[in-house]
Amino acid sequence: MTNPKNQAAWLHKPDTPLEVGDAPMPTAGPGEIVVKNAAVAINPLDTHMQDVGVFVQQWPACFGCDVAGEVYEVGADVERFKKGDRVVGHCINLTTGQARDGAYQLYSVVLASKAAILPDSISFKDSVVVPFALEAAVCALSLKEPGIAMPGVSTPALGLPYPSLDAPANSLNKTLIVYGGSSSVGSMVTQLGTAAGITIISIASPKNFDLCKRCGAEQVIDRDDPNLVASVLASVPKGSSVVGIFDAVSSPDTYAHDLAILEKVGGGHLAAVHPPPSEGVPSNVQAGMIFAVNDIAGKVFEEYATPALEKGKVLPLPPPKVVGKGLDKIDEALKLCKAGVSATKLVVEL
Ligand SMILES: NC(=O)c1ccc[n+]([C@@H]2O[C@H](COP(=O)([O-])OP(=O)(O)OC[C@H]3O[C@@H](n4cnc5c(N)ncnc54)[C@H](OP(=O)(O)O)[C@@H]3O)[C@@H](O)[C@H]2O)c1
Repeated sequence: MTNPKNQAAWLHKPDTPLEVGDAPMPTAGPGEIVVKNAAVAINPLDTHMQDVGVFVQQWPACFGCDVAGEVYEVGADVERFKKGDRVVGHCINLTTGQARDGAYQLYSVVLASKAAILPDSISFKDSVVVPFALEAAVCALSLKEPGIAMPGVSTPALGLPYPSLDAPANSLNKTLIVYGGSSSVGSMVTQLGTAAGITIISIASPKNFDLCKRCGAEQVIDRDDPNLVASVLASVPKGSSVVGIFDAVSSPDTYAHDLAILEKVGGGHLAAVHPPPSEGVPSNVQAGMIFAVNDIAGKVFEEYATPALEKGKVLPLPPPKVVGKGLDKIDEALKLCKAGVSATKLVVEL
């Protein structure tokens, strides 16, 4: 049997198109698997990496976070996977900087602790929307101690429980507001938060209310509601305390709303996806920026993701939009992502 050859969509310098070319065939080290990718997903982060080379540590660069495919090789100490298993995984080139850890290639390395077996009932193209969003959501919800997101910016530490297969809905009497409920990370924060017994109030466009509800939101408020702050406050169930806001948009406009809401409820957490406001944050508001690579997600990948996908507790939402097939389609998908998406995640099949 001939050895398979790897190819990648390479970024040779910032602000240039990705170019498909040969790539070293990765091997699985201890605690790692090599995945033969069947589908990869595009995240806004990837467009920033392409545009300005942010987070790139080695050139040429192969980046990308989300893969779905079959296990090709299993490293030492890995017991949960065997060759041929269908899996989803979160590639962490973001922190390692190594091309082997990027998604945009035919074979990628994934830490076993950031991968989950995929039930046969869910396709690769559907499931590939899950892994990076899943890790981001765990980082938003369950960190207990603030860490460092970037110099001078700490991570939020809401300290909320992990999702569980049997936590009754709304059982914690705690409410989290998800600003941008139809976004990829907003959808997953809603799903995991709901599965932890937290009440979720989403803010989204009316056309995407159904998506937010499918993810578990108790109430959804129109993002263009002229009385947004009052409407959000009025929707908090009696007896439930607002723990904070996960802001998947994190713009000056959304921050103004966040701070107004938190002021009215006497403070709380502001978990942002970009650096939080540097001014005007009251002392009773703990504002931080999530950083979506953290070992705390391991337990959720290892113990929750597979049964939750099987039982429909984690739905692959927002649904994928397949841009095309082949590594050469990734550059086109990045352009579409830059233009902005609504309630979908762009996916390329390989
Ligand atoms: N710091 C980290 O570790 C980290 C990790 C992951 C993501 N991020 C960042 O988080 C952001 C979201 O990522 P994503 O992949 O989830 O994005 P996405 O799915 O591409 O976000 C698009 C969604 O945002 C919604 N949206 C935009 N403006 C809104 C507003 N004012 N109010 C309500 N909803 C609004 C849109 O909703 P409608 O179409 O319904 O209006 C759309 O569905 C990106 O900026 C990304 O770079 C950061």
